[in-house]
Amino acid sequence: MQPQAFIEYLEAKYNLDSRSLSGEVNRLFRDVTRAGERPLRVCDLGTGTGAMVRRVLQMVPGPLEIDAVDLEERNLREAEALTRKALAAGGFRVTEAGRGSGRDPGSSEENGPVMQDHAGRAARIRFRTADLGSSAGRAMLVRGGFQVITAHAIMDLLALGPAMQAIASGLRPGGAFYATLTYNGATTLLPGYRDRGFEEALLELYEASMDARGASGGSYGGRRAGTRLYDATVSAGLSVAGFGASDWEIVPGRWGYSADEAVVAGALVDMIYAELVGSRKLSNQDLERWREERRAQIEAQRLTVVVHHTDLLALKPDDAGSRTVTPRGA
Ligand SMILES: C[S@@+](CC[C@H](N)C(=O)[O-])C[C@H]1O[C@@H](n2cnc3c(N)ncnc32)[C@H](O)[C@@H]1O
Repeated sequence: MQPQAFIEYLEAKYNLDSRSLSGEVNRLFRDVTRAGERPLRVCDLGTGTGAMVRRVLQMVPGPLEIDAVDLEERNLREAEALTRKALAAGGFRVTEAGRGSGRDPGSSEENGPVMQDHAGRAARIRFRTADLGSSAGRAMLVRGGFQVITAHAIMDLLALGPAMQAIASGLRPGGAFYATLTYNGATTLLPGYRDRGFEEALLELYEASMDARGASGGSYGGRRAGTRLYDATVSAGLSVAGFGASDWEIVPGRWGYSADEAVVAGALVDMIYAELVGSRKLSNQDLERWREERRAQIEAQRLTVVVHHTDLLALKPDDAGSRTVTPRGA
């Protein structure tokens, strides 16, 4: 996908992602972040255009200090602009706190700190480029001393073992890791394609391409990233406090779906196509026809898309060795 189209896709899925979050896991996250030392130090992994940063600003009482980390400079530029806009709309006064000299992917150099304050609350957000798949990126995390680490739609893109070791080390005792919308197979498209066998083969190849990410040796989660994240989290010494489904459900229903949902459905069809075009296991002509027909169904507001994801909340034992979560209804 072209960079600008990817940015548009990330923004288009904002509302869909928010409503897809597991309600129970989200309630636990809000509970564990309500109290505790302030400013609360937060790190958002794979920030993209800053969707999770904006959610954290809404969900977690400040003052906050947020490090927003991504591999792509252009995503962070967009994240910074959108965060400023959201804060200004929320009545925050945005002040500059000095700027770094530049961004250097892989070196974790920070840039563009931004201060916001409003009625005594404050949020300080640093947008930082870093490759979380590199030892330099992971070292930055380990040094962080964060009370909260969030990871939205990114854990299926990282080698889980090393990433979880760095996350566990980067959390302070009692800290929380909140990983949301981690892909966990399967993708379902309805109504069934007229050549069901073709689409089943196509979706199997698409998921196999996710498994292939780990073929070079890393412990990637592939199509089962959500499930494998649970075990990698426990192996890293964290305790899982919440786990639940956070599926995308794009269903036209009686009134059709929103323009944003159509963008997400279209992007998904295009991503599957881009992953498989040139595969010797499918005819390109059949693949083209599949894309055209599925796109026409989106245009006509007739395509239902369900994508299975999972959310996880994990806690690092505090110095006394306990993990505190408010029981339901307390
Ligand atoms: C699917 S997007 C999710 C973005 C955002 N969290 C959201 O849900 O809107 C994944 C993001 O992770 C970033 N990313 C992928 N691999 C990364 C890595 N090794 N280190 C840091 N960021 C990475 C990408 O640049 C992209 O912005």
